[in-house]
Amino acid sequence: MGEGVLTGRSERSPSSGAATPASAPGGFARRDGWLYADDVPLADLAARFGTPSYVYSASVVRSQYRRLDAALGSAPHRLHYSVKANGNLALLALLRGLGAGVDIVSGGELFRAMKAGFTGADVVFSGVGKTVAELEQAVAAGVKLVNVESEAELLLLDEAAGRAGRVAPVALRVNPEVEVETAHHYTRTGARGDKFGIPWDEARAVARIADELPNVSLAGLDMHIGSQLTRIEPYADGVRRLLELRAQITADGGGRSLRYLDVGGGLGVTYDEEREADLDAFARMIVPAAIDSGLEIVMEPGRFLVGNAGILLTKVLYRKRSGGKDYVITDAGMTELLRPSHYNAFHRIEPVGPAGASGVVDVVGPVCESGDFFARDRALGDVAPGDLLVVGSAGAYGAVMSSHYNARPRVPELLVDGERVAVARERETLEDLVRHESVTPEWRTI
Ligand code: LLP
Repeated sequence: MGEGVLTGRSERSPSSGAATPASAPGGFARRDGWLYADDVPLADLAARFGTPSYVYSASVVRSQYRRLDAALGSAPHRLHYSVKANGNLALLALLRGLGAGVDIVSGGELFRAMKAGFTGADVVFSGVGKTVAELEQAVAAGVKLVNVESEAELLLLDEAAGRAGRVAPVALRVNPEVEVETAHHYTRTGARGDKFGIPWDEARAVARIADELPNVSLAGLDMHIGSQLTRIEPYADGVRRLLELRAQITADGGGRSLRYLDVGGGLGVTYDEEREADLDAFARMIVPAAIDSGLEIVMEPGRFLVGNAGILLTKVLYRKRSGGKDYVITDAGMTELLRPSHYNAFHRIEPVGPAGASGVVDVVGPVCESGDFFARDRALGDVAPGDLLVVGSAGAYGAVMSSHYNARPRVPELLVDGERVAVARERETLEDLVRHESVTPEWRTI
């Protein structure tokens, strides 16, 4: 345990697996038994900024971006970072600096992206339930693609673009009806009958409509089949389907403005012992398909870029023995990181300092729910109240899924780059909790 390194090494067998990707100069690693974020001791961050806190490593984000970008190198492509994974403005700005665009799913994410300096041309607007107001925002921003998920949405977009006197570039998000394996069924999105995408048997007809509408131009075909995918075959199946659709559209005499092949996000990372998605295999599949078709690849990676770039730093508050079980109670809980509770997701947990071997424990949060746990029956070093722990692989779908439940202020997000640290989001105050409420609201009739 004491030797563990947070990215990519299993707690159960500490000597197996690789640490952070070989090309990452920083990341989360131990020096003299103590865990660091890049060159900054996590214990120092806890002392300075308190716990719980999220800590992100800029070097890991850079390394992941460059690896994926390089893998697709020989085909025209752009990586549109999926803001839903982690919408922190400083992180968005870091990715923008690397050349990323963004994939968004709401007017709120569009607002965030613009705040971080992205322009409409950098934006792909996804989402299964866009409002008219959001479609209008997309048109006004001049986004690169609106990925529509139904005929009804396509018609609303055409109207919105018409009102604005513009032609909106549209991609059809198709449900390619492929089966994927993911740790939890909540993160599968491309099987027959899922709520996402245009059903496969309607896609050709919707494409014909898109080609005829005056205020949209059919610029892309799109899929997103699931998240945390470690196999490449489902992508290959999906791409085959998209290209089959393209052939049908051509046979119908349409598709002359088609330019983009959007293959969504979903590339898996290492949380425990699973292997990261094989980038070389992915590239061997997608690069020739793109070059042959003459289409540009759009990708929407979220977790791949930031998942292992973040950890949640927390402190042990208590230990308790109850009904033969040992509990370690931490100051962070499901309000900060929902994934264990919501998806039964595995996140590695390690003491920040050197700790001798100990027994098997449940690591639980302070929230008043039995579902508030980080780990069950987990081997953990011998930690005592006051000791610091790290919950690993928390850069994606961590802070963004946090809540105020139990009136808990949101925790800070710290961005480390080499020896430097920036407060990318401040810890909320108690006043922040009640900022939009009033004890004496104004009563009125409407
Ligand atoms: N594009 C679309 C249209 C998506 O819906 C998603 C994620 C992505 C891209 C990015 O997927 P990624 O590369 O991060 O796998 N909260 C869940 C994950 C939900 C993913 C939702 N869609 C979790 O914590 O595992």
